[in-house]
Amino acid sequence: MEAQARIKELTDLLNYYNDRYYQDAVSEISDFEFDHLLKELEKLESGYPEFRLPDSPTQRVGGGITRSFATVKHRFPMLSLSNTYSEEEIRDWDARVRKGLNGEPYEYICEIKFDGISLSVAYEDGILVRGVTRGDGVQGDDISANVRTIRSLPLNVRKFDHLIGRSFEVRGEGFMPNEVFQQINASKIERGEATLANPRNAAAGTFKLQDSAMVAARKLDCFIYQYISDDEKFTTHEESFRALKAAGFNVSDSWRKVEDIEGVMAYIHEWESKRHRLSCATDGIVVKVNRYDQREELGYTAKSPRWAIAYKYKAESKSTKLLGVTFQVGRTGAVTPVAELEPVELSMTTVKRATLHNADEIDRLGLAIGDYVFVEKAGEIIPKVTGVDYSQPNPDREPICFPAACPACGSALYRNEGEAAWYCPDTEGCPPQIKGTIEHFIQRKAMDIDSLGEGKIDILLENGLIGDAADLYSLTFEQLLGLEKVHFDEETEKERKVSFKEKTVQNILDGIEKSKNEPFAKVLFGMGIRFVGETTAQKLAQYFKTIDALIAAGYEELMAVPDVGEKVAQSIHDYFRSEKNLNFLEKLKAAGVTLQAENGVTEKEGNGLEGLTLLYTGTFEHFTREEIEKKIESNGGRLVSGVSKKLDYLIVGEGAGPSKLKKAADLGVKTISEQEFIAMIGGDADSTD
Ligand code: IVH
Repeated sequence: MEAQARIKELTDLLNYYNDRYYQDAVSEISDFEFDHLLKELEKLESGYPEFRLPDSPTQRVGGGITRSFATVKHRFPMLSLSNTYSEEEIRDWDARVRKGLNGEPYEYICEIKFDGISLSVAYEDGILVRGVTRGDGVQGDDISANVRTIRSLPLNVRKFDHLIGRSFEVRGEGFMPNEVFQQINASKIERGEATLANPRNAAAGTFKLQDSAMVAARKLDCFIYQYISDDEKFTTHEESFRALKAAGFNVSDSWRKVEDIEGVMAYIHEWESKRHRLSCATDGIVVKVNRYDQREELGYTAKSPRWAIAYKYKAESKSTKLLGVTFQVGRTGAVTPVAELEPVELSMTTVKRATLHNADEIDRLGLAIGDYVFVEKAGEIIPKVTGVDYSQPNPDREPICFPAACPACGSALYRNEGEAAWYCPDTEGCPPQIKGTIEHFIQRKAMDIDSLGEGKIDILLENGLIGDAADLYSLTFEQLLGLEKVHFDEETEKERKVSFKEKTVQNILDGIEKSKNEPFAKVLFGMGIRFVGETTAQKLAQYFKTIDALIAAGYEELMAVPDVGEKVAQSIHDYFRSEKNLNFLEKLKAAGVTLQAENGVTEKEGNGLEGLTLLYTGTFEHFTREEIEKKIESNGGRLVSGVSKKLDYLIVGEGAGPSKLKKAADLGVKTISEQEFIAMIGGDADSTD
């Protein structure tokens, strides 16, 4: 048989056996026969790569080594959920939902909240084309090769287009099944290797491996919890779940439709212990309004939908001995007391240290050294001391003395009125502050220089190669080659020699170079101005567009920026009045770091939409989605995320969403056609593209 035809035949056959196995739990052929056919296909594909099909099952075996992951923007942002540990707050939320829906009847879908890695998986024309991590919610890493190794994710869904369509995204939680995790650790112990800390970290690490063959060997899985597409395929979440399941997606059977808040409570109680039997770690449950039109009615806050909430189960709590307290100096100079504990197992990890936050917290807890204390994992991640275990005697009760001087540089500590934290004043010379500032600058949410992780900043500082983060941009290959240091890995408690070989050095320099293209908002966040978090940095970048405009801004002008209050404005103002900071900025500028917004000052096309808010629905003859968004902004308009009374115009294209149209009609929002839009921006239809 001709190679092309055989490749097609084998692809279809293997996909069929795979679906039977993973979706119907039926093995029609033995593993041996399956592997045999797979090998035949692999061989043919390597001889005739041009005939390899996009849904070939060989992609599940991995083998492609990706050097680094491309960053891709999510078509629909990946929002987070507001969450609570309190049943009372779940009831309050229910009351808000009821009010928001004006007494209309509604139902909830309750689901388990899986604790893994959120993934977004895109299908185009029925083929799995992309798998992306959540990243910062706006953009993430393209880890398609690794996502394709998940056998419960169909590579081709064309035969189900009547159920789920052909172009859509599914969102879900990627994880390493507990069983796989235990097997891997058992064999690691046998080989005398360090074990993986917990399934969540193991999954996170595995999804980021460059070699997808190694990923395939780790047998990751994914529970799907959301379907998104442009067509309004379903009217309820329930329908989407049933269709996804029928099309072979791994929708956990643990979901349930409930009529009211009492049903939600029953689900919460029922799954508190049952959840431990699932194959994935879990940290709570998620409640979602079932009907999509009601979801739209309820809408969104800046970060999360109003139509869903997560209830988190209280973390496991254990009692252990407080051996001592150490004091750590952070990036801002704040001194944090850290409890040194007798090691204790909590939610599958060993806890030896826990934050005590500040001096007031020590007083509040009434702690003394030698006490037995309760430790919990807040959100199951950062350990926290929650109280003294008075059932265990401690006759000595050695008091904890908060230092008067900085434990790192010896400067006298100070405390601002009304604040709990003690600070070291030496922002320019105190080593942990310098290091913390640089670590803040290189983190993913800022300049994203991940090749500088794992103690490498220490090496650069110790060798006097950098004094601040801007100095990274003048490092040379010769300076870095051959540097080394013994690094103590807290997680594995093992010493590791970090040494800069050619490849490492090149990686570092490439990472630094690449960071010059990070958008202005991320650079601004990376500068570490006090009280300027990611969101404020974005607002500032949008408002001022260039660093020079921001530096020149007076206190009053800063206060005009959305979200910027007195405290933040003062902090920004002070930051740019420091000689050291201005010098730092000069170095960034000289290095070519992005110091103006992408859609900055240059791209303005007109002001036909000045002061107007717009939203579009459907598809257009003359613009793609990106193009119409750009047109709105370059003509002075503001794109908003949903239909509300504040919306000036809804631009209506082909196949427009009926619920958006209805809502616009209900609220009296004006709708315009593509032609009318073009006229508003002063163009004529045929010269626009
Ligand atoms: S729905 C807009 N459902 O929790 C709402 N999320 O804080 C989208 N998660 O990053 C999320 N299980 O990765 C949803 N059954 C579930 C979930 C779930 C786990 C994760 C998800 C997201 C985070 C939200």
